[in-house]
Amino acid sequence: MRELDYNNSIAITREIYWVGFYDETSKLHCNPYLLIDEDDVLFFDPGSIPHFPVIMRKVIDMVNPSELSLIIASHQDPDICGNLAVLEDVISRSDLKIVAHTNSIRFIRHYGVQSGFYHVNDNDFKIELKSGRKLEFFFTPYLHSPGAIATYDHQSKTLFSSDIFGALDDNWSLFAGSNFPKAMDSFHQQYMPNNAVLRKFMERLENVDIERILPQHGSVIEGPKVQLAINHLKNLSCGIDLM
Ligand SMILES: [Fe+2]
Ligand SMILES: [Fe+2]
Repeated sequence: MRELDYNNSIAITREIYWVGFYDETSKLHCNPYLLIDEDDVLFFDPGSIPHFPVIMRKVIDMVNPSELSLIIASHQDPDICGNLAVLEDVISRSDLKIVAHTNSIRFIRHYGVQSGFYHVNDNDFKIELKSGRKLEFFFTPYLHSPGAIATYDHQSKTLFSSDIFGALDDNWSLFAGSNFPKAMDSFHQQYMPNNAVLRKFMERLENVDIERILPQHGSVIEGPKVQLAINHLKNLSCGIDLM
């Protein structure tokens, strides 16, 4: 087992970092991630107001805030977008863009953000960074939000999966441990609509070359655990299946 210092950012790869707040009093852990590319720094699901001081300290330890060029908001929930308005003040960059689906952007505006939006659905569900690196967005409606997206980085074969593959966990660790994959069950049973919608996305992922999944809750899933996780959720009843 790796010994991890949750008081500081944690490297997942040489260019992807976890910058979350480890809340020992909660089963729900939120995972914001930085992707540091050559001329762009991307911030995935930056998080809430209560977590902001710790998250921002970790970001500043890694980069100058003015280097952040793109914020990816997988959907409009407060655990993802609550700190957007203060974050963009700290970044203070007129060309900062918030990347999201239009179905989410309608609600994200209500956080009082000033930045421009990059509507993934108007851009062929793709974005190319200044370096030429390509990111692809998977539209995952109702998992769990009507505008939810996941982001796939072709270069590192990483899926930033948002709430999908999330977990509620009493015994949390950043990397999936002994309670995997069962730790994902109760979160999906409570927050995902049903097996049919979840299964459809799992079947899409079976054709994607994924080395690691970085969910916004729960734990990072790597290597052979990726296929185990996909198979597990493919067969999980949830939401209205259980009513
Ligand atoms: Fe959510
Ligand atoms: Fe969430």
